[in-house]
Formats: sequence, C-alpha cells, structure tokens
Amino acid sequence: MPAPSVTRLTTDLPVDTSPIVCTPAAGTDLDDIWRAVIPETRARSNDVHLPISLAYAERLCAVHPEADALVVRVAILLHDTGWGRVDEARIFAEGFSGDWRKAQIRFEHERQGCLIAREVLPPLGYDDEFVERVVAIIDGHDTRPDSRSLEDSLVRDADRLWRFDHAGIAVAAGWFGLDPAAYADRLEVEILPELLTEAAHTMAVADLARSRALLKTGVLR
Ligand SMILES: [Fe+2]
Ligand SMILES: [Fe+2]
Repeated sequence: MPAPSVTRLTTDLPVDTSPIVCTPAAGTDLDDIWRAVIPETRARSNDVHLPISLAYAERLCAVHPEADALVVRVAILLHDTGWGRVDEARIFAEGFSGDWRKAQIRFEHERQGCLIAREVLPPLGYDDEFVERVVAIIDGHDTRPDSRSLEDSLVRDADRLWRFDHAGIAVAAGWFGLDPAAYADRLEVEILPELLTEAAHTMAVADLARSRALLKTGVLR
C-alpha cells in the first residue's frame, strides 16, 4: 500500500466500519433541501452519489464532534448538484478523461453548485453566514487541492468514501470506462491516499475489502 500523502486527522472515538447501508442518513431535517434539488439529482447519478455520501458524512461527523455537522451535511448534499446545470454530453466527454480534475466542466459544476446553494438555502431559512460557509466548501471541492477547514475535509472525505462501497464502484467504474476490478485497484492507489481523516481511511479499507470480495475482483479481471 502506498505511503499516505497527508497527515490524517485522528479521532479517539470508535469508527463504524459496517457497510454504509446499515446506517442511512438519519433525520428528515434536510428533506426540504432534497426536494428543492430533485431535478439536479437526476444528473450524473447524483441520486445515488449524494445520499450515500451524506450517510458517510454523518458517520464522519459522529467521530468529529468538533465539526459543524449541519454545514458538513448541507455541503455534501449540495456539492455536486451543479452537474444538473451543465451540458450532460460534456460531463462524460471532458469530465472523466485526460486531466479530468482540471477540465473546464469541473469548474463549471462547482460554480453552478454555488449558485444553487445561494438559490435554495435562503428561502428555507438558512442565513447568509451559513450559506457562505457551505458555498466556500462547494467552490473548488474538486479543483482546489487544499482543504480549508475541518468541515471542508469531512466533505472531501465523504465525497470519496461512497466510491468504496459496491454501489459506488458499480456506478463510477462505468464513468471511467473501467471494469470493477480495475476501478477497485485505482481506488486503492489513487483515492485511498487522498483521504484526510483516519476515520475515512479506516472505513474505506473495510469497504474496499468487502466490495472486492462481493464483486469477485480477484477472478473477474
Ligand atoms: Fe464534484
Ligand atoms: Fe461528488
């Protein structure tokens, strides 16, 4: 396994490494936000990615109680909604090939996501200061290399963690034109070292082992 590229944040609290399906996102307090972005959830499998990532974000918040959990939860819910307002054909033509992290379409989905947050949150009673904290995380979540706060780090990890679940592998392998075994290998080499918290790393290792066994990636390669 490659050496970690970052010093990960640690926690003294026990980390839940059970399959994410065991702990869906709790509560209904964000349901009005979900309803406001239903059209945007239909793009790029956001209706799978966003709820699963929210569940991971809540697990991370549970072991990092010093984080503002509401900021983390709302930011992860909205972070990729901007994909719903960019040209769908360009998502796959530019967003997943070549230097995909720097593709113009990525900057555009971040920009649109910020606009969506500013559009949907104030009518639901979220104040300007809260909205700007959410926007600061959405802006650059894919293209900015550094995390700027604990909440930013938890969103970044939740955004990556869903891919280690078998549902994430099923969806994201197709985006990159890879088979599940090759995609699982890429997760281990490229994404695992990027995780910023020890809790996320522990969950990802457990998920990846389960997903590889389930998908028989040792044989189907
Ligand atoms: Fe994104
Ligand atoms: Fe995402």
